[in-house]
Amino acid sequence: MPGLIKIAFFDAKPYDIDSFGKASKDFDFKITYFKGHLTLETAPLIQGFQVVCVFVNDVVDRDVIDILERNGVALIALRAAGYNNIDLKAAFKRIPVVRVPAYSPYAVAEHAVALMLVLNRKVHRAYYRTRDNNFTLNGLLGFDMHGKTAGVIGTGKIGKVTINILKGFGVKVLAYDILPDKEHQKNAGFEYIDLDTLYRESDIISLHCPLTKESYHLINETSIAKMRPGIMIINTGRGMLIDSKALIEGLKTGKVGFAGLDVYEEESDYFYEDFSNKVITDDVLARLLSFNNVMVTAHQGFFTQEALQSIASTTLENIRDFFIKQKLPNEICHKCGT
Ligand code: NAI
Repeated sequence: MPGLIKIAFFDAKPYDIDSFGKASKDFDFKITYFKGHLTLETAPLIQGFQVVCVFVNDVVDRDVIDILERNGVALIALRAAGYNNIDLKAAFKRIPVVRVPAYSPYAVAEHAVALMLVLNRKVHRAYYRTRDNNFTLNGLLGFDMHGKTAGVIGTGKIGKVTINILKGFGVKVLAYDILPDKEHQKNAGFEYIDLDTLYRESDIISLHCPLTKESYHLINETSIAKMRPGIMIINTGRGMLIDSKALIEGLKTGKVGFAGLDVYEEESDYFYEDFSNKVITDDVLARLLSFNNVMVTAHQGFFTQEALQSIASTTLENIRDFFIKQKLPNEICHKCGT
């Protein structure tokens, strides 16, 4: 390896510093942690670093990549699975981009199901009620998950685990994927169907596909109109899979009965930051937070001990692989995005 590798680590939180601190003991790397995001304004800070390590809300567009290349950055190490924030075309043949394709599909799938259960059984409201010595049940009525139908959009690693958990509840699972996995369908006992049928027949819809040109605003006014009244929509995928304004309209009319959102279209301005002493100026986010049948979590699906450990070790292995010129198994292909 060419001497001490210097890594500029953006959007560093205490838990990142902890997990990467532990994992980096086995590597000859010097990691400098920056609290802020990588943006056009912060990119010029990158002087003398061979690697930038970024997360989901860092900006890695063409302009930023130009600056990184000028400043001698040799590798972009994304410490996440979803890479929609990276302009892969701009990076092509200039700076390789590696990611952590799988760390714990269980973490995200279990969080999706947690959102379903919290919303259904109104645990978020019961928590406050009993703390106020109010032991009544009015307004907390839920439904049995058993026997309901869930539509899972995207049956990759996370979608598959979600399906398995839901099958354990006795839920009937319908699924849609642009590349169906027929083998898994046979083994797990669910049915692939077209999107319109999924919208029409599901009581719960859970999104587990990546954000692409095709999936942008997949859930919009038209698709919501096709859904069952009172539909529960769960999004642990990416915020832009849902047109938030259409979702709000659906919630106002009651067409959407519940929304569990771990991601939000404009989350980069808010998520992972403390706004408890500030005002939220994003009226769409503020409106979503005002519904008692909406549960917003701040992109925490991945946030388990196991996932953090795996993210740290895989990211550092990706960097080591690059510098010892091994094959880069986790490089994102600029065309296919795998
Ligand atoms: P994966 O790559 O294993 O599976 C994605 C599946 O979606 C594939 O089967 C693919 O064929 C399918 N797909 C692609 N475009 C589609 C479309 N337009 N409609 C329907 N299906 C489509 O990915 P994995 O690991 O299951 O992750 C899924 C997504 O979850 C990621 O792309 C990421 O955006 C999100 N994620 C969220 C996290 C969180 O903390 N909330 C953490 C990790 C991932």
